Amino acid sequence: MKKIVILTGAGISAESGLGTFRDEGGLWSQHRIEDVATPEGFARDPKLVQGFYNARRATAASARPNPGHLALARLQAGWPGEVVIVTQNVDALHEAGGATGVLHMHGVLAGALCAACQHRWHAPDEMRVNEPCPVCHAPTARPDVVWFGEMPYHMEEIDHHLGEADLFAAIGTSGQVYPAAAFVSQVAAAGASTVELNLDPSAMTGQFDETRIGPASQIVPAWVDDLLRSRI
Ligand code: OAD
Repeated sequence: MKKIVILTGAGISAESGLGTFRDEGGLWSQHRIEDVATPEGFARDPKLVQGFYNARRATAASARPNPGHLALARLQAGWPGEVVIVTQNVDALHEAGGATGVLHMHGVLAGALCAACQHRWHAPDEMRVNEPCPVCHAPTARPDVVWFGEMPYHMEEIDHHLGEADLFAAIGTSGQVYPAAAFVSQVAAAGASTVELNLDPSAMTGQFDETRIGPASQIVPAWVDDLLRSRI
């Protein structure tokens, strides 16, 4: 039975009220990446960075999954083969919608990480500057999110799944951030079929076999219905 690997980005959570990064008015038009999403920015101004992620954690905590998230969970439950969800999103809306085994390649807002001993724990709603690690007690707690210049999480496992994929779908991602942007060429070279579901054609759109354009809350449930009907 066909194995499906799905990559999601900020676009799938947009209709849940979480802003994307690169759309008009998106997060990166309000904040400089160098300031809030790099290890150097954190070293320079930890208060600014903790404040940025505290605000995003609060917004994400009150967000609810939309029909796009729910449809992917329905696909996992109803598809006779394996369905792996890889997300660049740091929210927990896939899980809130019922999805399982989601690989968060850019980390999670709900997590805290000790920069000194690498211990991980559940982040408090408000992380403070110099927040101490509960294990080594160093004042080096940071959000457990991947910043620019850092290695995304779960890459070995993701590569393994991409290598086995029969069908690869990218949903709500602009195709501008690597390594995720290169997944489509990687799976296509290995013979998988590819489909993009996005509000607008992404930077990688020419590399997909099929493109479905529209809001995720509508096009993802329709795509899932088509797949479950076909059961190829
Ligand atoms: P972007 O903001 O770059 O792209 C969001 C994509 O979603 C765009 O292509 C939009 O057209 C599309 N979109 C917007 N609303 C949508 C909707 N309702 N339905 C479907 N699609 C919609 O976000 P990502 O591609 O996720 O990384 O960004 C990738 C990474 O860049 C993020 O994980 C983050 C960021 O910098 C880090 O912070 C490390």
